[in-house]
Amino acid sequence: MKKILVTGALGQIGSELIGKLRGIYGAENVIATDIRKVESDVVTNGPFELLDVMDDKAMFSIAKKYEVDTVMHLAALLSATAEAKPLLAWNLNMGGLVNALEVSRELNCQFFTPSSIGAFGPATPKDSTPQDTIQRPTTMYGVNKVAGELLCDYYFHKFGLDTRGLRFPGLISYVAPPGGGTTDYAVEIYYEAIKEGKYTSYIDKGTYMDMMYMPDALQAIVSLMEADPANLKHRNSFNVTAMSFEPEQIAAEIRKHIPSFEMSYNVDPVRQGIANSWPNSIDATCAMEEWGFKAEYDLEKMTKDMLEKLKQKLS
Ligand code: SER
Repeated sequence: MKKILVTGALGQIGSELIGKLRGIYGAENVIATDIRKVESDVVTNGPFELLDVMDDKAMFSIAKKYEVDTVMHLAALLSATAEAKPLLAWNLNMGGLVNALEVSRELNCQFFTPSSIGAFGPATPKDSTPQDTIQRPTTMYGVNKVAGELLCDYYFHKFGLDTRGLRFPGLISYVAPPGGGTTDYAVEIYYEAIKEGKYTSYIDKGTYMDMMYMPDALQAIVSLMEADPANLKHRNSFNVTAMSFEPEQIAAEIRKHIPSFEMSYNVDPVRQGIANSWPNSIDATCAMEEWGFKAEYDLEKMTKDMLEKLKQKLS
């Protein structure tokens, strides 16, 4: 991994991954691309190119121009948006992935793309969900993720492409807000706690989902991509998680810092339905054993850091 092309670089993961990669591999060696251009470090601190991932020729020519050896394909619609626009999600999530895999095959690049807890469904064991288990998701996003995992494994077996992936849980960060996800409540709650002192959750109490603080997610990407391939029994994709909680638990943790914080509920049936179809907590043993995955942040440590950083950002 010496020269890296990242798609969806202005999204929730990309906004922070680009800085981390530029810090490790050198600013000029991380080519950020996105369908839009906004004022951001991602655009100004190193190479940036406008790219619609549906445009295979443009993707190829950018990859070729910079002679990249690694592609990190992040551009995708998240679960709730995909449920609202299923055909667009299929076309973008699968079309973008195929283009990125083809570019990687032609230029022999190492390849990363995130999967998700959304790749599981109601028939999946809900607690300590194993690495290898039933994957029959009932959402368009989940269908895309399972198909994507299989496609990445296919490119590995058929073409010898070095494809690797992570099944991310809900990712929490103070830098770029997520958009259109089911787990987004666990980000919004921190913003509203600081701005309003209260939050109305669209996810019902008692609904457990896996979550992870962004620094752990970024480190997981780098560790997996740098892992010795000889140790990888799995590739697409590894279960990773740092914590599992339900809305009352995150509210209680926030109250340790903001005692007057109030939580109420106005459940969104669509996102609640998606959450109900996902695991309560997944098992990351294979990631730990095969490439040393480890998370530093639990709910307590993450909440302290989120509130500190957000207070600075919002003041
Ligand atoms: N955070 C994502 C979502 O909620 C899960 O991959 O859609």
